[in-house]
Amino acid sequence: MILCVVVFGWEERCEFPAIFNFGASNSDTGGLAAAFPSFLSEPYGQTYFHRPAGRFSDGRLIIDFIAESFNLPYLSAYLDSLGTNFKHGANFATSASTIRLPDRVLPVDGGFSPFFLDQQYLQFTRLLQVSTSGKVDPKSVPQKDYFKRALYTFDIGHNDLGQAFFGNLSISQVNASVPDIIDSFSTNFRNIYNASGGASFWIHNTGPMGCLPYILAQFPAAQRDEAGCSKTHNDVVQYLNYQLKQAVLQLRKDLPSAAITYVDVYSAKYTLYTEPQKYGFEKPLVACCGHGGEYNFTPNVICGTTIEENGSKVPVGSCEDPSKRITWDGIHYTEAANKAVFDKISTGEFSDPPVTLKQACHKSAA
Ligand SMILES: *[C@@H]1O[C@H](CO)[C@@H](O)[C@H](O)[C@H]1NC(C)=O
Ligand SMILES: *[C@@H]1O[C@H](CO)[C@@H](O)[C@H](O)[C@H]1NC(C)=O
Ligand SMILES: *[C@@H]1O[C@H](CO)[C@@H](O)[C@H](O)[C@H]1NC(C)=O
Ligand SMILES: *[C@@H]1O[C@H](CO)[C@@H](O)[C@H](O)[C@H]1NC(C)=O
Repeated sequence: MILCVVVFGWEERCEFPAIFNFGASNSDTGGLAAAFPSFLSEPYGQTYFHRPAGRFSDGRLIIDFIAESFNLPYLSAYLDSLGTNFKHGANFATSASTIRLPDRVLPVDGGFSPFFLDQQYLQFTRLLQVSTSGKVDPKSVPQKDYFKRALYTFDIGHNDLGQAFFGNLSISQVNASVPDIIDSFSTNFRNIYNASGGASFWIHNTGPMGCLPYILAQFPAAQRDEAGCSKTHNDVVQYLNYQLKQAVLQLRKDLPSAAITYVDVYSAKYTLYTEPQKYGFEKPLVACCGHGGEYNFTPNVICGTTIEENGSKVPVGSCEDPSKRITWDGIHYTEAANKAVFDKISTGEFSDPPVTLKQACHKSAA
């Protein structure tokens, strides 16, 4: 009988009145496009929003499916001053964000977002202070108790490795920089935890970057695995994820009142590449929207731009059916792939502890 009560308590759904997200392009719902309006043109957004919607995809992102699953509105980007509402949370993620201060920032060519994780944390503290100051319309900001009751989500790390892979570092030098990247993550995590009083945290690890056309096309000599992905690059990603997992174990010890779920997005994404047909995908390593070569990807000829071919301008557009593709523009995922990954990770099958998304306020199954 007691066991039943425990099991019942365990299965109880969490009620999250808000979501606060920290991350990069995989969860950017309009931050970079608000700060740098020249980014993103058609056909971005064509599948779901029918216009570029601040997302580096043809449609919705995993964070959109997370919001939908709690019947919450899509997250407004903190940086967006137009038509936004933060009542049920805010999104601090911007595309090209890193955990650590990047070497070069946009709009410099090849630069990364100026809004790296330390800045996202500071923006969060400003939202928190302003929201609880009583000086703004309460209909547009979270009420005070929402900060404690919210779900805090994280999806960042990818661009720290990306910057290093394309810099002048050897693979072993990139690998050696991983502990420092994760230390920065932990510091920011502790700060966000302390500032918010939040109790529920959902952390995505980094996906298999070595399966993305932008890596495959630019590192043709890197060792390939059975799925055709770059083993060289994925090995470093897996080390980043190993260190992140260790950091989460430490954070759980140090912050015992927090429910911190580590989500193995890497494995969920990797199964799409090993069994593409099972999920309705074809040409798993080829970009849908892009141009040229084995992977339909050429650095500077990205989705939404135009190229000169035989003296006339040709748009770099979408493939016929993005719902059959994993990668949208060679760096980011299609809505179809994001939905497939969301369906996998929301079950708890890829979580440590093995809690479903709806149970992310619970600490463990024991
Ligand atoms: C990489 O090294 C080469 C030669 O040492 C140098 O010319 C180039 O500017 C460096 N690139 C970057 C991104 O640091
Ligand atoms: C925690 O946050 C409070 C303000 O909310 C601040 O005064 C304190 O210094 C912070 N502690 C740490 C360890 O960051
Ligand atoms: C990265 O470093 C760790 C720790 O030294 C090591 O175990 C691992 O094999 C390295 N991986 C790569 C790809 O160099
Ligand atoms: C450009 O010309 C080449 C060679 O004649 C042809 O194969 C290709 O299809 C042409 N491309 C376009 C966009 O017309």
